[in-house]
Amino acid sequence: MNNVLNNRQAVMTVDRDFTIAPIDPRIFGSFIEHLGRAVYDGIYCPGHPQADEQGFRKDVIQLVRELNVPIVRYPGGNFVSSFVWEDSVGPVADRPRRIELAWRSTETNEIGMDEFADWAKKAGTQVMMAVNLGTRGIADACNLLEYCNHPGGAKYSDMRIRNGHKEPHNFKVWCLGNEMDGPWQFGHKTMEEYGRLAAETAKAMKQIDPSIELVSCGSSNDHMPTYPQWEATTLEHTYDYVDYVSMHQYYGNERNDTQDYLACSDDMDRFIHTDEVTLDFVQAKKRGKKQIHLSFDEWNVWFHSKQQDDDSMTNRPWQVAPSLLEDHYTFEDALLVGEMLITLLRHADRVKMACLAQLVNVIAPIMTDKNGGPVWRQTIYWPFLLASRYGRGTAMLPLVASPKVETSRHGAVDALVAVAVHNEEAGELTLFAVNRDLGRDLTLRTVLRGFEGYALADWQALESDDLKAVNSAESQPVRPVSRTGAGFEDGALCATLKAASFNVIRLKKV
Ligand code: AHR
Repeated sequence: MNNVLNNRQAVMTVDRDFTIAPIDPRIFGSFIEHLGRAVYDGIYCPGHPQADEQGFRKDVIQLVRELNVPIVRYPGGNFVSSFVWEDSVGPVADRPRRIELAWRSTETNEIGMDEFADWAKKAGTQVMMAVNLGTRGIADACNLLEYCNHPGGAKYSDMRIRNGHKEPHNFKVWCLGNEMDGPWQFGHKTMEEYGRLAAETAKAMKQIDPSIELVSCGSSNDHMPTYPQWEATTLEHTYDYVDYVSMHQYYGNERNDTQDYLACSDDMDRFIHTDEVTLDFVQAKKRGKKQIHLSFDEWNVWFHSKQQDDDSMTNRPWQVAPSLLEDHYTFEDALLVGEMLITLLRHADRVKMACLAQLVNVIAPIMTDKNGGPVWRQTIYWPFLLASRYGRGTAMLPLVASPKVETSRHGAVDALVAVAVHNEEAGELTLFAVNRDLGRDLTLRTVLRGFEGYALADWQALESDDLKAVNSAESQPVRPVSRTGAGFEDGALCATLKAASFNVIRLKKV
């Protein structure tokens, strides 16, 4: 790649007084669905040399801990719309096998609610639980909530105690179904139907446990024909009872047009903005005091595996833990994931939770070898790790003046995608910056106001001459490298970002 043809300059101003909001750590959440090899042969693999006494892989847990994921959505996804939770609890030998409609697989129910709660504890994370509002309804959601969160003395909480979990799981966040606007969803609903059902379910659930937070389904993506009317209409029903509206979005480079692909984070930015104003519209209409927040609980790159999955589900259905949605991510995918993380941080005032979908084997940063081999890190693991590690604190409002880069479908977009995060407690200021220009380096001048005494501590970058480089169990060409060469000039921090690079520049108070 010829990346030094024309070195250009972007200016970012970060002022200590101009903040977006404190970052809710749950913005670094993820997702485990009963899908493909996420659970079976992913987090759970009895007989594997790394399995613990419950069959959970310790090496996988170690990587989840390394990513420091504060919340994990479970058990779906599309899976939840035909989930019969009662089948997943009690003695394992008595649990039925079931055909699973969404992914045309066989669910053995070896791992269920209680085991997943145990796994979450081991992985140092909370559970974001989803209820089935597709093929089931209010009563089942209430029974499940009683099973999980009620101390005891009634049918379902006593059932949990008999099943060996004396203490309630106390799951705090609950999703009211999944992608209910999608015709592919079993039990798909119109916005009026869903709005009514979600409101009545939410009302009953909060009666059982008023401390829970509820997420109502937003649109499955911004291309849905009912978007954004879906958000407005459903929230008119649910406003009094819910706390968040969900967002989902996946991108892909199907056309192999990388410059344009890397502009997709601008679509994500617009999508969030549209949701914010739609939610505010409903609040205003209701003369409401409560601001509804966003839970971006599915986001990622997803396209590499799609064709193969269609074939597998059509021609070889009802397998146990088939290889599905196993995207092998490239370097350019890691760049877009980095941009998406920056976009989430830039909306820290409204996006309070977000889930990288998913966590293990299924469109995931963490992969396990199919033949009982090791666990390994995909390319997208790295931007997530760096953002989760250094993106805690307060998101700062960055004023950015960037040169443009031309794209085929998105027109001229900023070459620089950036945000700053101030961790006052740790005395750290971190700049996250992607130069998405494929052909030209970019000098970033960061003007810092109110950060006297902060000195450059570290600069890590993801860079590659091969946009299509992938990691595997055997080799890990895509991983962060330490960069040098940044420094202060005329009071501004100057760093030359390589063409097509993700950068984390850290300053520390000395
Ligand atoms: O994450 C994979 C699938 O994508 C989920 O099951 C569904 O909610 C979405 O369409």
